[in-house]
Amino acid sequence: MSKNDYILEAQGIHKTYRLGIAEVSVLKGADLAAKKGEFVAIVGASGSGKSTLLHILGALDKPDNGSVRFEGRDLGKMGGGELNRYRNKMVGFVFQFYHLLDELSVLENVVLPAMVSAGVVGWIMGRGNAKKRGLELLEQVGLKDRASHKPYQLSGGERQRTAIARALMNEPKLLLADEPTGNLDSATGNGILELLERLNRAGQTIVMVTHDERVARRAGRIITLADGKVK
Ligand SMILES: Nc1ncnc2c1ncn2[C@@H]1O[C@H](COP(=O)(O)OP(=O)(O)OP(=O)(O)O)[C@@H](O)[C@H]1O
Ligand SMILES: [Mg+2]
Repeated sequence: MSKNDYILEAQGIHKTYRLGIAEVSVLKGADLAAKKGEFVAIVGASGSGKSTLLHILGALDKPDNGSVRFEGRDLGKMGGGELNRYRNKMVGFVFQFYHLLDELSVLENVVLPAMVSAGVVGWIMGRGNAKKRGLELLEQVGLKDRASHKPYQLSGGERQRTAIARALMNEPKLLLADEPTGNLDSATGNGILELLERLNRAGQTIVMVTHDERVARRAGRIITLADGKVK
């Protein structure tokens, strides 16, 4: 397999948090690569730096040292506009606690990434199509009949399915999921994992963080983070 098959390559990632005089070195040269179409799980103890690493992969945070390449391009060399495009269009992010906006309906939450990338004029022109795609995604995750509900009217599993639909809105090449089942009971979590597996079978590249070995085993490959490095 040639090097170009990697959609994502992180090399020598270092990250230290400084709070006053206290320093916590979380990542000390972590390497990771994911091929197009792979489903990779990152496991590690609480505090091992899984979320930190995932945020760096999604350009939600910057490493102190090391590089992240997406389709061969170094995120560290991208300008602000290009990085925003990466965050908004190339990557979809799913969080443990959903991060949905309670003032918006389920459908409005799902189409939000399209609104952000379209700008005002583009949104006025394209919102009909965006809503159509939003409804299709809600159907895919089994929530079409909940489109006009508010997130607080949904169960935890339904909220996470809404968040996954939102993450998929702009057809990201890479789905990053941080403990997507961490706040759910095992049956509901299993439904979310089945959804991720289904997306992966349809070609979606996924990198998922979890502290739960059983959850990790649902992925195609497991990477373990310990002492700031990938074992
Ligand atoms: N913004 C921050 N400022 C200071 N320290 C931080 C910050 N974010 C994370 N840390 C510290 O970095 C370490 C790694 O945190 P991180 O959230 O990446 O761990 P994790 O592996 O995701 O843990 P969990 O399984 O509990 O979610 C922890 O010790 C945490 O306290
Ligand atoms: Mg975490």
